[in-house]
Amino acid sequence: MAYERDNIRALTAYTPGEQPQETKVVKLNTNENPYPPSPAVLEAVRAVSAESLRRYPPPSAETFRRAAARAHGLSPDQVIATNGGDELLRLAVTVFCDPRPSSALAPTPATGTGLRPAQRHGAGSLVMTEPSYSLYPVLADIHDTLIHRVPLNDDWSVPADFAPRALALGCRLAIIVNPHAPSGRLESLESLESVARALQGQAVLMVDEAYVDFATRDALPLLDPSRGLDNVLLLRSLSKGYSLAGLRFGYGLGHANLIASMNKAKDSYNTDILSQAAATAALEHRDEARKSWAAVIGERTRVTAELERRGYRVSPSQSNFILATPPAGGGAPTAKAIYESLKQRSLFVRYFDQDRLRDKLRITIGTPAENNALLTALGELAR
Ligand SMILES: Cc1ncc(COP(=O)(O)O)c(C=O)c1O
Repeated sequence: MAYERDNIRALTAYTPGEQPQETKVVKLNTNENPYPPSPAVLEAVRAVSAESLRRYPPPSAETFRRAAARAHGLSPDQVIATNGGDELLRLAVTVFCDPRPSSALAPTPATGTGLRPAQRHGAGSLVMTEPSYSLYPVLADIHDTLIHRVPLNDDWSVPADFAPRALALGCRLAIIVNPHAPSGRLESLESLESVARALQGQAVLMVDEAYVDFATRDALPLLDPSRGLDNVLLLRSLSKGYSLAGLRFGYGLGHANLIASMNKAKDSYNTDILSQAAATAALEHRDEARKSWAAVIGERTRVTAELERRGYRVSPSQSNFILATPPAGGGAPTAKAIYESLKQRSLFVRYFDQDRLRDKLRITIGTPAENNALLTALGELAR
């Protein structure tokens, strides 16, 4: 007997990148920061007392929210702390998108599509650009909300008519990842602002800034009250920029009304006392994280140049990864074959078997030694 809801039965679960447990691998597949977190983070965790472990944690991570507000020049009621950026995404989908009424799935002879007119137009839907983070459609499916994918332009930019198309599709929440994953392209602030403005009053624009620490600018200016936007939400993650993927801590920044809506729906104690202490210390010691951002950016430039010298096409990236297309033809190995050969050598990169990405590899920028190991292996495979 299967007890799950129909949409869960039909669900294809999210596939995380491989997480090999051996330590002797070069792991350039899930965009972790190759440098350790600030020592202040570990000190903060060690300083947590048995007494505070005995008690429930501050429900809304107040100390962390104040630290984040200070760091970004906002007020604490514009910040929500979450169990990784992923929890913020899940919250946003559940708070802003409508689940389809179960009758939407039943055949209705009047329309012949099985959907009521409102559902056919996608009312209450999630709209994303394609390709993008593959968790978004999974979250939509779990919530049983309609999801629409608007293809990105060839250079991975957001199409100029994204907002009107989203609205015509009944959008309540649009997600744009910036810098884009998996290409690393940075969309301009003007373009994001025009999307937000066109959606205002009808839908929320979430800018997923999981990788923004490696970019030249962020979308924080959109939260400036002078812009008059009340529908912008920014996602931040401590996984990449702060070397804390194992901690599971992220946060949202946005208009206080959006944050208040999400606070109503979050778990009472969604972040624990250890992670709150660590995350607060991480933000209070941003200068140390900044050193890792600079090192990653330097290596990104070097690895890009080295790959281009070998005939790869590399999308300009403002992130901690690059999307590289190996040279084709003349018996050269395909991206998939390269991915598999690298794996046999304990070198992990990411391969996406999907449209527009099948001929590419997404490579996380590692330490100079890790990057050299990759470049050496690629050189050997090309021979
Ligand atoms: C585009 C994007 N957004 C959000 C996240 C969520 O990150 P986390 O839950 O580790 O904070 C990730 C993680 O890989 C990501 O790639």
